[in-house]
Amino acid sequence: MGKPTLRTKLCDVLGIEYPILSAGMGPSLVGERTGAPVELVVAVSEAGGLGVLGAAGYTVDEMREAIREIKKQTDKPFGVDILLPSQTVSAGDLEIEGPQEIPLSEVLKTLPKAHYDWMTKIKEKLQLPDIDVMIKLGSTTSRPHAAIKVCIEENVPLFCSGLGNPGFMVADAHNAGIKVLGISGNTKNAGRIAQSGADLVVAQGHEGGGHTGRIGSMALWPQAVDAAAPTPVLAAGGIGDGRGVAAALAVGCIGVWVGTRFLASVEGGALDIQKEAILKATDEDTRRTYIYTGKTSRATYNRFHDLWETSGLDPLPFPTQVLLASGMVEMFTQADMVEYVGPFAGQVSGLIKEIKPAAEILMHMVEETVDILTNRLPDTVTAKI
Ligand SMILES: Cc1cc2nc3c(=O)[nH]c(=O)nc-3n(C[C@H](O)[C@H](O)[C@H](O)COP(=O)(O)O)c2cc1C
Repeated sequence: MGKPTLRTKLCDVLGIEYPILSAGMGPSLVGERTGAPVELVVAVSEAGGLGVLGAAGYTVDEMREAIREIKKQTDKPFGVDILLPSQTVSAGDLEIEGPQEIPLSEVLKTLPKAHYDWMTKIKEKLQLPDIDVMIKLGSTTSRPHAAIKVCIEENVPLFCSGLGNPGFMVADAHNAGIKVLGISGNTKNAGRIAQSGADLVVAQGHEGGGHTGRIGSMALWPQAVDAAAPTPVLAAGGIGDGRGVAAALAVGCIGVWVGTRFLASVEGGALDIQKEAILKATDEDTRRTYIYTGKTSRATYNRFHDLWETSGLDPLPFPTQVLLASGMVEMFTQADMVEYVGPFAGQVSGLIKEIKPAAEILMHMVEETVDILTNRLPDTVTAKI
């Protein structure tokens, strides 16, 4: 049997074979490599989809190195995802003088007293170890303008903004021949991103892993399609196989942006214990919480969530809350207290039963979508005009 055909307008816009993108996924733990590393990007792009590097936790230099590595390993189109929080974008890049790395334990001392005291109390109660981790200053999140400049210099085919509106950089990107994609969790922002000139909008439903909004995918996708028109929309949040892809195409999306299913792949950047947690999880085993970043994000449920819920504390603003969570997750990890650690992951976890190579996951999605559109629907639905 030859290769199946599954094409939409997205294939022409991006120069790819199948309308399936692996999502840009940053790290969810200190010290963890990124969720969507070079290996995943190359595997997905080589298989005919488009892989997106999760560069949110990288320094600008690390991101440049990763882009160059991708270009060495594939000549297929790929993307790079960073976060563009509006406060950081308007405040300008963080200037770093002196050391480029500082001990996390020192940074934690700068947290508000109530949060620091709570962390210290938990550390004593659970007898957690001292942590000896350095954090790098100058991540792409704190230096978005420098990161965008590098993406343009390196001629990245697709620039993706996981947070905030990329409108301010669209003209520069287009001058360099780079396409721009923005992610939204509601209809209003889908419309805003489209109207600010982005080429593609991702509409990510409540059930998705990582930062996530309040609107479920099935309600959001068609409303985002209407709000963004004529800018095309990709569906995200809860897609784990060809059934999700076919549903997304049926509501008018031109492709899909898939996170959790590709995180739980051979090339996905999660730690093995995190991949195991996704395999074990049912559809009910994720929670949306402020604990990790100060914004709502979805992760596999674990006992750290309970500690936070009973703390009585308000979340710190993004990205300060990331420091608090990173410090505590690092202590739990070093103490091997796996019941307190869970990755960012979506409700689709319940559908994932096996860690497979990304190319196999992608081809299975394609084959199943084609089967649904050409066989299963005509067999099970009678529709006539
Ligand atoms: C581990 C993990 C890390 C993530 N990090 C980012 C990120 O850095 N930038 C971003 O745009 N989205 C991030 N996301 C969200 C994904 O891009 C995507 O929208 C989401 O995973 C889609 O839902 P799904 O997990 O149900 O496929 C992350 C998701 C996961 C699971």
